[in-house]
Amino acid sequence: MIQMYHVSKTFEREIHALEDINLHIKKGELLFIVGPSGAGKTTLLRLLYRDLLPTSGQILVNGKNVARLKDSAVSHLRRSMGVIFQDFKLLKDRTVQENLIFVARVLGLSGSETRRRVGQVLKMLGLTSKANFYPQRLSGGEQQRVAIARALMSDPLILLADEPTGNLDFELGLEVMRLFKEINTRGTTIVAATHDDRLASQMGWRAIHLKEGRVVERSA
Ligand SMILES: Nc1ncnc2c1ncn2[C@@H]1O[C@H](COP(=O)(O)OP(=O)(O)O)[C@@H](O)[C@H]1O
Ligand SMILES: [Mg+2]
Repeated sequence: MIQMYHVSKTFEREIHALEDINLHIKKGELLFIVGPSGAGKTTLLRLLYRDLLPTSGQILVNGKNVARLKDSAVSHLRRSMGVIFQDFKLLKDRTVQENLIFVARVLGLSGSETRRRVGQVLKMLGLTSKANFYPQRLSGGEQQRVAIARALMSDPLILLADEPTGNLDFELGLEVMRLFKEINTRGTTIVAATHDDRLASQMGWRAIHLKEGRVVERSA
């Protein structure tokens, strides 16, 4: 589903964020990208949803070279992916439900599709009773679940998550990971970046470890 061949990304002033990354992710897989701050995790995820282009190397998603996509194909690619950002990026002046409806509009869902999908993701994430709450009235864990719900609105093939547990304590982090496991069981491929070695090893998922832009360790 995702292949990276000799991928490097260099930012201006010779910042080598990623160097010679080779990575294959199969459909239905659950993968951790583990590494300390500055290792290149966010850059790797941004390359996958084509928020950035690689400086060299090739990235294939669903068999297509993402660097060569036309604009229409880029939006198609992004629709097939759900992205959870490190800082949630929830709309503060809208309720949980309104945050989800906003995504439905962007996706172009009809009114009935929107109601159905909003109901589904709220239920899946245990947020039905919080539908009319504003984000600031939710706990950190609940806000994170809203961010996940939003990423699932398009029923994506691939879920990308950048430090999804970064703002949560260890127990809540485990809970989010169990949720990911459940989402994965329904068929969604998941790539999650984390600096938390302990969380990654506790879950026992496949992991690649990055340090200073290079893969330093691979499990399984
Ligand atoms: N837009 C950017 N411009 C310049 N340097 C960047 C940019 N984004 C990331 N970097 C640099 O690339 C390296 C990897 O960053 P990042 O991918 O954010 O790491 P991580 O997510 O693992 O903390 C760091 O040295 C960071 O400062
Ligand atoms: Mg990061």
